[in-house]
Amino acid sequence: MGLQSNLLALLFSLHIFSILLNKANAKVPAIIVFGDSSVDAGNNNFIPTVARSNFQPYGRDFLGGKATGRFSNGRIPTDFISEAFGIKEYVPAYLDPKNNISDFATGVSFASAATGYDNATSAVLGVIPLWKQLEYYKQYQKNLTAYLGETKAKESISESLHLMSIGTNDFLENYYTMPGRASQYTIQQYQTFLAGIAENFIRNLYGLGARKISLGGLPPMGCLPLERTTNFMGQNGCVTNYNNIALEFNGKLQNITTKLNQELPGMKLLFSNPYHIMLHIIKKPELYGFESASVACCATGMFEMGYACSRGSMFSCSDASKFVFWDSFHPTEKTNSIVAKYVMEHVLAQLLE
Ligand SMILES: *[C@@H]1O[C@H](CO)[C@@H](O)[C@H](O)[C@H]1NC(C)=O
Ligand SMILES: *[C@@H]1O[C@H](CO)[C@@H](O)[C@H](O)[C@H]1NC(C)=O
Ligand SMILES: *[C@@H]1O[C@H](CO)[C@@H](O)[C@H](O)[C@H]1NC(C)=O
Ligand SMILES: *[C@@H]1O[C@H](CO)[C@@H](O)[C@H](O)[C@H]1NC(C)=O
Repeated sequence: MGLQSNLLALLFSLHIFSILLNKANAKVPAIIVFGDSSVDAGNNNFIPTVARSNFQPYGRDFLGGKATGRFSNGRIPTDFISEAFGIKEYVPAYLDPKNNISDFATGVSFASAATGYDNATSAVLGVIPLWKQLEYYKQYQKNLTAYLGETKAKESISESLHLMSIGTNDFLENYYTMPGRASQYTIQQYQTFLAGIAENFIRNLYGLGARKISLGGLPPMGCLPLERTTNFMGQNGCVTNYNNIALEFNGKLQNITTKLNQELPGMKLLFSNPYHIMLHIIKKPELYGFESASVACCATGMFEMGYACSRGSMFSCSDASKFVFWDSFHPTEKTNSIVAKYVMEHVLAQLLE
């Protein structure tokens, strides 16, 4: 009897799963990604910049142990989200010449590590500015139209999930590190400036036919290992000021979401906020099977990312799944999967209705 009901439960859940999958296939044909290293699938490999990760130990837990240019030991959140929509397990990088429009028709990432909303942020390390990501997207639409035909391409664009994940670098790499913006704007003014760029970007996407858009919030960026390492006054705890700025800025993004949904007909703009789930993981890592949240796996775990992570890799941890962070600025694959699942269940699942 137990066996029989288990079998029934299994059949039932398979049935639900296939309904979900079919619906997913029907509803969201592609994931189209804009942003920074949180969602860069390797575009920076093809531009001259030091903001790279296409070498070991990056990707050591990825398929074939390949360092694709993702800033993690394995997959990044958009890979998990794509899979959850029943599309594919990896979202490919637009600038990688081994991909063509038949790969991109079901998902593409225009993201570039070290970029931001602000042009001055992308200029720090010479990476792809957000406006340029939009130019690539227009090129992509042309190719998609040539590939699918006009009617199908339009339909695909309006049903696809457009996902934005960007903003941390504007504060940590730019405002609080470089002299320019801080002498021009107070931190409140700077937030307003960035929020204006975000709003404008979403309006542009809408104008290009996008209707399903996920606007990503900032993580608790004061808890990134690099910020903790340098928090000498605060005994290496999270930097409260940075976390408060993330909360404030997320409030602005939430407001933009409400406003644009009211204003733009047919718009389905969703605010995907990773802040609270990430802070919970960081404060209670043991609940999720982690052993460390304050230092990262790669190298000493205190400062290193990019080339420095590679150089110091003989000190890296042996099991990244015990760590919340992979390098001093980026989560491990396991953290990415937890956050993606959370956002999928709490926010993006609406797109399946
Ligand atoms: C894309 O590349 C694959 C091989 O990698 C090839 O089979 C396919 O025809 C190409 N598609 C287009 C539209 O060029
Ligand atoms: C898109 O179209 C342009 C111009 O026709 C072409 O050069 C480029 O290779 C195409 N890209 C893809 C990914 O198909
Ligand atoms: C960023 O640079 C692009 C290209 O030069 C420009 O069109 C855009 O207005 C700039 N954005 C801002 C907010 O200044
Ligand atoms: C969001 O909008 C509300 C209502 O207009 C306003 O009171 C609040 O200050 C705004 N929040 C932020 C963070 O801008």
